[in-house]
Amino acid sequence: MAGSVHCESEVEESESLRSDANVAGPMADQVPGPRSEPADVSRETSPPMDDTPIGRAAQLAVEALGRAGRGLPRPQQTRVMVVANQKGGVGKTTTTVNLAASLALHGARVLVIDLDPQGNASTALGIDHHAEVPSIYDVLVDSKPLSEVVQPVPDVEGLFCAPATIDLAGAEIELVSLVARESRLRRAIDAYEQPLDYVLVDCPPSLGLLTVNALVAGAEVLIPIQCEYYALEGLGQLLRNVDLVRGHLNPRLHVSTILLTMYDGRTRLASQVAEEVRSHFGKEVLRTSIPRSVRISEAPSYGQTVLTYDPGSSGALSYLEAAREIAVRGSAEGAGSAVSGERMDGGAR
Ligand SMILES: Nc1ncnc2c1ncn2[C@@H]1O[C@H](COP(=O)(O)OP(=O)(O)OP(=O)(O)O)[C@@H](O)[C@H]1O
Ligand SMILES: [Mg+2]
Repeated sequence: MAGSVHCESEVEESESLRSDANVAGPMADQVPGPRSEPADVSRETSPPMDDTPIGRAAQLAVEALGRAGRGLPRPQQTRVMVVANQKGGVGKTTTTVNLAASLALHGARVLVIDLDPQGNASTALGIDHHAEVPSIYDVLVDSKPLSEVVQPVPDVEGLFCAPATIDLAGAEIELVSLVARESRLRRAIDAYEQPLDYVLVDCPPSLGLLTVNALVAGAEVLIPIQCEYYALEGLGQLLRNVDLVRGHLNPRLHVSTILLTMYDGRTRLASQVAEEVRSHFGKEVLRTSIPRSVRISEAPSYGQTVLTYDPGSSGALSYLEAAREIAVRGSAEGAGSAVSGERMDGGAR
C-alpha cells in the first residue's frame, strides 16, 4: 500500500497537467519557493531552462503558481471539512496537508487540525509537536482555547496548524467522562476568532470519539479513497456513522467530497476502482484524482507539503487542481448530499 511507489505513469500525467501551468499568477511574489532541495532527490519535472538552483526553484514555483492565483471563490462562511476514512493509510493526512497548502496558495486562510495521535499532519507541515507543545489534546481535554495552540506553518502564507502530540492517544478514554464529550472540538472552533476560509480536520483511522468530535464540528466530510482492491470496504460503516451523527448531533453534516488517491493509471485495477467509486458516489467524486507520486511520499520527511517540496510535480499540480475544484464547488456547499450508509449497503466489497 504505502510502500510501493511507481512514478512512470505520473510523468505522463504531469505533462498533461502542466500544459497550462506556465503563466505566473498574480501571487507570484507571495508564494514561497521550495526550500533548498536535498542533493539526492531527482526531479520528476522536465529539466528547467535555467540550470542554476535559484533559476530551477523559480521556474518550478512559477509553473505551479500558474495554476494557483487568487481568482477562486472564497467561501462566505468558514468551511469545516472532516477528512475521514477509518481505513488506515488511504491518504487522509497527505490529502489534508496538501489540500490545505493548495487552498492557502489559492489565497485562502486555512487551519489544519491534527486529530490523530500519530501527529503525521503536524510533521508534514513542519510543526513542532513534541510532548510539551500546547496541542489539540489541551483543547479537547482541558478546554484550552484553540488560539493558544495554533501555529503558523513555515513557508506557506495563510496556513496554520493545531498540532497533535502523543498525549492525544489517551484522549479517546479521557473524553468519555467529560461533559459534552462529542462537541468539544466544535465549541473550540466556534470560539476561535481569527478569520478562516477553511478548517481541515485530519482524523485518525478509527471511528472513536476523536472522529466523532470532528464529525460534530464539520459540515462536510471529505473521504479519500485509495485506488486499490478493497477500496470500498468499511465505507458503509463510515457512512452509517455520518448518518448517525447527522441524525443526532449535527444536522448539517454531509459527505461533500470524495477524492481518489494513489491512482496508478497503468493498472486496470485502479481504473476499475475509480469507475466503481464514481458509480457509487457520482457527483461527490472530484474529477481530479491524485496520482501515486514519489514526491508526495517524500515531502513529509522534509517537514514539507509537496507544494513547497516540488511545486512543479504531478502530485503538487493534482492537489492544486483538487483544491480548485473544491473551492469552485463550494457555492453548492450546504445543499446536502444523497450519500448515506444505505447507499453503500450491498455495494461495498
Ligand atoms: N499520492 C500518493 N503517492 C504516493 N504515496 C502516497 C500518496 N498518498 C499518500 N502516500 C503515502 O501513503 C502512506 C499513507 O498515507 P497517509 O499517511 O496520508 O494515509 P492516512 O490515511 O493518513 O494513514 P493513517 O490511517 O495511518 O492516518 C504515506 O506513507 C504517504 O506518504
Ligand atoms: Mg493519517
